[in-house]
Amino acid sequence: MKAFVYLGPGQKTLEDRPKPKLGSPTDAVVKILKTTICGTDLHILKGDVPTCAPGRILGHEGVGTVEEAGAAVTSFRAGDHVIVSCISSCGKCDYCRRGMYSHCVNGGWILGNKIDGTQAEYVRVPFADTSLYHVPEGADEEALVMLSDILPTGFECGVLNGKVAPGSTIAIVGAGPIGLAALLTAQFYSPAEIIMIDLDDNRLQLSTRFGATTVINNKDGKAVEKIIRMTSGRGVDTAIEAVGVPASFITCEDIVAPGGIIANIGVHGVKADLHLERLWDRNIAITTRLVDTVTTPMLLKTVQAHKIDPQKLITHRFKLDEILDAYETFGAAPSTNALKVLIES
Ligand SMILES: NC(=O)c1ccc[n+]([C@@H]2O[C@H](COP(=O)([O-])OP(=O)(O)OC[C@H]3O[C@@H](n4cnc5c(N)ncnc54)[C@H](O)[C@@H]3O)[C@@H](O)[C@H]2O)c1
Ligand SMILES: [Zn+2]
Ligand SMILES: [Zn+2]
Repeated sequence: MKAFVYLGPGQKTLEDRPKPKLGSPTDAVVKILKTTICGTDLHILKGDVPTCAPGRILGHEGVGTVEEAGAAVTSFRAGDHVIVSCISSCGKCDYCRRGMYSHCVNGGWILGNKIDGTQAEYVRVPFADTSLYHVPEGADEEALVMLSDILPTGFECGVLNGKVAPGSTIAIVGAGPIGLAALLTAQFYSPAEIIMIDLDDNRLQLSTRFGATTVINNKDGKAVEKIIRMTSGRGVDTAIEAVGVPASFITCEDIVAPGGIIANIGVHGVKADLHLERLWDRNIAITTRLVDTVTTPMLLKTVQAHKIDPQKLITHRFKLDEILDAYETFGAAPSTNALKVLIES
């Protein structure tokens, strides 16, 4: 089968690999119909993710059909149409029993990281019963690819952790696919103000279309000043960090109102300063989270009911054969205006 393989920092290839086999009775082998590229895959290609060894097939998102299910898999059988979750969960360990699948001691974020992933014709999915979801009849497959990772990530790490509430004022720093997923799902709770901050005018324009009430380009470094002015000196109730660099985390520290929450989503490769000398008396909370994907079934219902339309995040389409071009396009987002690139087998 064809597979996209990470060969070490800055090196990647599309090559032929053997089709995966069941390794345990709880596994399923899934034929991938549609997959996509995540910002985290770019972090891997830069060499930022040491758990991912050279030789690994990347990808942790996708929709497909079950090719073969292990003898112990009870909820899925060959031919079933499924969403592959970016998190594999055994369903049995202490963390899984607490709903913290991201820290499953037997799984967690392993697909396209510690085991071969979905940017291939087939993938082996461990703990299939608790790591796959049925695609409802007639559902839009493209929209559902967004349920593997970005929608639960924006919602769980940003909106739920940030306790977005009716009438609240929120700011989302970073209008990439993850920030936009937080923007779409924050609107379940009717916040009064949603401020999007980025450096890219195209992404900010889209944010306005997707429901932001104010957009700010921080190229001039004046976003903090503008937000403080807009909120009569208070700041925002929820500041969602969706970039993963020190500057964006510090922006969140500078705009959080007394009693507010900073909900970090970004994957950080270097340390960011925590200004306790300014924050110690402000009654704030800071949260961090690796997506658990516990809200996937709920989000699936909202997509089915057209409460949100995540397929509007898809800007480009490629065949698996063209995945190197897909990476080029996705990696050059400021010039290509790419958000999510869809890859079809
Ligand atoms: N916590 C999790 O479980 C989890 C899961 C998936 C992805 N992530 C992480 O979420 C982050 C966002 O992912 P993405 O795919 O949307 O990334 P992305 O790179 O597409 O988007 C980041 C956006 O931030 C903007 N930006 C850069 N510096 C900025 C600054 N100083 N101020 C404001 N905006 C700035 C960029 O212009 C870009 O639009 C990444 O770090 C990714 O690795 C975390
Ligand atoms: Zn991801
Ligand atoms: Zn577990």
